[in-house]
Amino acid sequence: MCIRDRIMPIYEIGLEELVARNVKAERLSFTTSYKDALKEAEYVFICVGTPSDVDGQADLRYVRMAAESIADAMDHPIIIINKSTVPVGTGDWVADIIRRRRPDVPEFAVVSCPEFLREGSAIADFMSPDRTVLGSTDREAAEKVAQLHLPLRSSIMITDLRTAEMIKYASNAFLATKISFINEIANVCEALGADVKEVAYGMGLDKRIGRHFLDAGLGWGGSCFPKDVKALAYMAETEGRHPHLLHAVMDINADQRDAPVRKVKEMLDGKVKGKVIGLMGLAFKPNTDDMRDAPSIDIARRLLREGAKVRAYDPVAMEVARNILPEVEMTGSAYDMAKGADALILITEWNEFKHLDLGRIKTLMNQPILMDGRNVYDPAAVRQLGFEYRAIGRGYDGEGVE
Ligand code: UGA
Repeated sequence: MCIRDRIMPIYEIGLEELVARNVKAERLSFTTSYKDALKEAEYVFICVGTPSDVDGQADLRYVRMAAESIADAMDHPIIIINKSTVPVGTGDWVADIIRRRRPDVPEFAVVSCPEFLREGSAIADFMSPDRTVLGSTDREAAEKVAQLHLPLRSSIMITDLRTAEMIKYASNAFLATKISFINEIANVCEALGADVKEVAYGMGLDKRIGRHFLDAGLGWGGSCFPKDVKALAYMAETEGRHPHLLHAVMDINADQRDAPVRKVKEMLDGKVKGKVIGLMGLAFKPNTDDMRDAPSIDIARRLLREGAKVRAYDPVAMEVARNILPEVEMTGSAYDMAKGADALILITEWNEFKHLDLGRIKTLMNQPILMDGRNVYDPAAVRQLGFEYRAIGRGYDGEGVE
């Protein structure tokens, strides 16, 4: 699999055409040779993965490899821009690696420029960011990188290297906190008969709070929040601090994945063994085939452990999911999945699921049980169709507390 042959390593709307268009116009080319890539370059971006290590800290091996390869290949002054999410202090460490490896290295500066795009809307987010954060010990280098970003027309902030690195972790941890917060509120709503969707809407009308990232559901997954919240907690603990809030945020998120199985089990009178359960969506969020830390993995495994027969349908993630969940039967459509099913669990809020003919789905199922893990459907309308329906944090409408 190779991006040079136009095979994208990940599904992202518009990416294939964007790459093809720019390759054709000779603005973009790919190589595995650092020497070729750095030839006459004024700037080099480090954009490698920083996955979680076993103990939760960020694994920096790819950053180290990139820094060493840059050191070996550099033959003129260059500005190194780090886009990867890296622990505070990594920019200094990269500069150190380069200087130690090549004491005669040409002049260089390291600028941190964290990336804030989301998967599934990566191109739009990259092209119109809310802000560009730049951090460096070399102000002149940071200002040059600011110039480079002017066409994106975002607010640009220049700060020191460590602060820029921290802004990225603090931002992701804050967004994860917002989601865990609303999920905690959802659980209370369920118990007290309130509707979390309305609660989030009402809260969001206050500009200080904002409506974004207040969708209660199955919690956050993916390749960023889980590893970044963990890595931030690890950094704090390494320095002798006690990141209580970050731990609570992670605990709430882990619990949230239990909710759908528990609720489906209740609707099936306590038994999922031998039942056919369909998973609507597998990817950690819509518009991607990314399965990293997807809630669907925990949910499917738990159902399988309890003896259920698990089926799934996802518009794009099934190919990737097949290797991770070999015991799950992948189906050709939501309707195929519904045939003879005893319950469905909506896991990923793909648009396709919002527009399903639920009446038809109901007639195909063995029992019309629907667990809406993302609060996509109107509870009254779904119940009207004859479904036994539960959702997340919808006390009156969703959970039958009436
Ligand atoms: C996240 C950040 O949003 C980006 O700003 C950041 O650049 C990126 O991580 C990164 O560090 O690379 P991403 O993980 O691609 O982006 O996707 P999000 O849209 O943030 O969703 C993350 C998870 O939160 C998903 O599982 C989603 O289902 C969940 N989520 C999101 C909710 O449960 N509720 C919400 O209201 C929003």
